[in-house]
Amino acid sequence: MLEVLSALVLELTDLPGVYPAISALHVFGIALLVGPVVLVDLAGLRLLLAPALVAAAPSLLRAAGIGLAMTMVSGFFLFAVQPGAYLANPLFLPKLAVIVLGTINGLSWARGGGAGGLPPRWRCAVSILVWPVALLLGRWLAFVE
Ligand code: HEM
Repeated sequence: MLEVLSALVLELTDLPGVYPAISALHVFGIALLVGPVVLVDLAGLRLLLAPALVAAAPSLLRAAGIGLAMTMVSGFFLFAVQPGAYLANPLFLPKLAVIVLGTINGLSWARGGGAGGLPPRWRCAVSILVWPVALLLGRWLAFVE
């Protein structure tokens, strides 16, 4: 199944410009996710005092959700180009684990009626650690086999 899917994705990504476009979409999704989340987390931790940011937090976190969805879809395509190599990469599964943790942390706030303002401080503390670590692991895994 994974082989068939991988073969299909390879056909697609062999087309000129498709792989770079998917890769750019991944980076765009990361920007939309990590930028807003870090700003909201800093506000939630009272390290950045900006009332406008507090008011904008629900919209910023919605944008972050869209960014996360973009990284997941594009990340799947990047992965499917060489699944075996990524599964064998010692940083790939830790990266996914960190993303799952960050997603659960974000969803638990959103599901608890979090749209009304800033997330609680402990959720901001988890979030401000988890997403930059995911970013670091994502960049790093290109340099590890
Ligand atoms: C389920 C979701 C995701 C999957 C399956 C995935 C998978 C991948 C894959 C296969 C690559 C290519 C690695 C390479 O060979 O260079 C990549 C790149 C990268 N990923 Fe993800 N990713 C996901 C989500 C994320 C998230 C949420 C972040 C950050 C918060 C992230 C950060 C990065 C970074 C920084 C790169 C390197 C981009 C570049 O330099 O072009 N990824 N990802």
